[in-house]
Order: sequence, then C-alpha cells, then structure tokens
Amino acid sequence: MSPSNAPRFSADYPLRAHNTFGFDVRARLACEIQHEAQLPIALQAAVAAGLPRLVLGGGSNVVFTRDFEGLVLRMTLRGRRVVGEDDHAWYVEAAAGENWHQFVCWTLEQGMPGLENLALIPGTVGAAPIQNIGAYGLEMSEHLVSLRALELSSGEPVVLTAAACRLGYRDSFFKQEGRNRFAITAVTFRLPKAWAARAGYADLERELVAQGGAARPDAQAIFAAVVAVRRAKLPDPEVLGNAGSFFKNPVIEAEHFTLLREREPGLVSYPQPDGRVKLAAGWLIDQCGWKGRALGAAAVHERQALVLVNRGGANGTQMLALARAIQNDVTERFGIVLEPEPVCL
Ligand code: EPU
Repeated sequence: MSPSNAPRFSADYPLRAHNTFGFDVRARLACEIQHEAQLPIALQAAVAAGLPRLVLGGGSNVVFTRDFEGLVLRMTLRGRRVVGEDDHAWYVEAAAGENWHQFVCWTLEQGMPGLENLALIPGTVGAAPIQNIGAYGLEMSEHLVSLRALELSSGEPVVLTAAACRLGYRDSFFKQEGRNRFAITAVTFRLPKAWAARAGYADLERELVAQGGAARPDAQAIFAAVVAVRRAKLPDPEVLGNAGSFFKNPVIEAEHFTLLREREPGLVSYPQPDGRVKLAAGWLIDQCGWKGRALGAAAVHERQALVLVNRGGANGTQMLALARAIQNDVTERFGIVLEPEPVCL
C-alpha cells in the first residue's frame, strides 16, 4: 500500500454528521475506510491502542448515548458495477460505502428494475443486509446473492452467501451470532429480468392511483410513488434527525392476537406464513396517544408514530427515555413489548 493510501486517523472526531439523529457526540479516534486494504491496518491500530472499534455506515440505525471511547471505522468504499448476466437475471455489486438510494437509482438507470420499492431508505449499501432493509412489500433478502466482509478479529476477507446471512424481518446473522464480528465491504444482488410490479402495499396503491398510473405501473412509476409516500410520511433526516422506525413491528402468537382483537377491533395486523401475526407498532403507539408528543426535544413524529425525532438538541439518553415511556404504555395497554430497531451504544 502506498503511503497516500494508508488509513488516516483523526482524534476527538465529531460524529454529529455521521448519525442521522444528529446527536452531538464524538469518537476518541476515527478513520475513513476507502479501500478494503486499509481495514486490517486500522484494525491492528485499534488492537495496539487497546480500543474497541465500531464499524459505521450512514449512521441511520444507531443511537449514541455518549461519546464513543474507541475507534470508529467509517466505511466509505465506493463503486458499483454489473458483475454478471444470464438468461434470467442481472447481477450487480456495490461497495459498502455507496449510498443506498443512489444505488437504487443507478440500477434503474441501467434498465435493471427490482429495487424500486426500497427507494429513499437512508443509509449505505453495506448496512442494508444487517437489518435486511424492507419497505412497501419488499425486503432486500429477495435480491441478495452474497456479500464480502472482513472478519474483524483476524482481518481476513470472507464471502457470505445469502443463506449464511440468515436474513429475517429486520434481522440477520449480523444482529445475532455475527454481531460486531464483521465489516461488510461489498454486496451482490440478483435482479431478475422477469420483472413484476410489487404494488400491493396499501399506501403505495393509493399513491399510484393518485398519480394515474395504477393499471400497469412500470418500475419508474413505482419508484416515484414510493418516493412520494416516504416524503409525505417520513421525516428527512437532513431536516429532522431520526433513525426511521424506532421499533420493530411485533410478531405475536395467533392466540394472543385473537384475544387482543376482541378488545381492540381496530388492531392493524398482517398474518405471517408461520401462523403468527405481525402488528403495526405505529398503530399501537398512536393508540396510546403518543403521536406528536415529546419529552423535551425528543419527540414522536406527527405523521408516523413509529418514528422518533430529534427536534434539535436532544441526546441519546433523552431519546431512550422517550422510547422507554412509549414501551411502558404499549405494554400496559396491549401486553406487548416493543423491541427497538436501532443499535443503542
Ligand atoms: N399507523 C397508525 N399510526 C401511525 C403509524 C402507523 O395508525 O402513527 C398504522 C397505519 O395506518 C397503517 C399501519 O399502521 O395501517 C402501518 O403503517 P405504515 O404503512 O406506515 O408502515 P409501518 O408498519 O409503520 C413499516 C416499516 C417501514 C416501512 C413501511 C412501509 C418497520 C419497523 N417499519 O412501517 O420501515 O417504510 O412499513 O413498508 O417494519 C424503517 O424500518 O425504518 C422503516 C421506515
């Protein structure tokens, strides 16, 4: 590696621009990873200094409650390309630091549809598999082929197939046994040539009707509708700090659901293939009267109760206090424990 390619370390590094809540915290040390070869060197430096390390993408799924007393590895590796094609599909690869939404736009520009339902999701390509990003009737798991990563303990590169990533609803190997063990460096997707519109999600269908293109929407129409729905409902982190949905939608047993629905006929629910039932956490929170309410500058978004926002100057501890107050009310009324989606540090 040439000296100009060597990783550069910054001390007392401000993280405000690197977490979408906009919390004003700092890292003891930070280092931008632009090339895979820089990672082992940075990891060794952390070991030598006896510092814990944190791999950070767009910071869209993290709640910092204090300064990070360790080394932050900012994954800014760039590059996207078509890596293969057969009769049935295109295969595209993107480096971990690519912005997810820009990547979706690029696939559509290449004439390779499939990811349009996942437009405008904040964050990077490398972070996407960790929580198996999903929206409007599509999860990333449907298109993942494999990913490249570096094992943090050994600094060795590995390739993990989609099966090995064990993607589930807002869940993966990287949130379970693989937690804090890998830095994802590149992700490969399969985009089938036999494209079919995925337009069944209620909000999306409504928007397509409003745009007059509901009969036979193409990928571009779906993309535009997803962007419009998200802009109408979800706050832009650049304007109002947030981490998307703060809680996962809870999945409960069928018996529990039947009992609950007798008491709460308006319950918004989605039956699951295994017989269990997923509930809309936003509805549960809304019913508890939390939509638009705040504890100081930590608030519940006015248009989507599942999204917690930083109205300006809130910190992670205050956000977690708000989250706990919401959890308590939801548990008291519905007997359900809401699980946070972002990682709390
Ligand atoms: N609802 C309310 N009040 C609210 C919010 C929602 O009554 O304040 C009801 C809605 O009326 C609707 C139902 O709850 O009937 C579901 O709401 P929505 O369609 O907004 O979706 P969600 O279940 O709240 C999930 C994802 C979002 C994703 C949307 C669209 C999770 C945790 N969240 O939200 O993902 O964009 O579906 O597919 O699964 C994210 O993960 O950060 C995220 C934004």
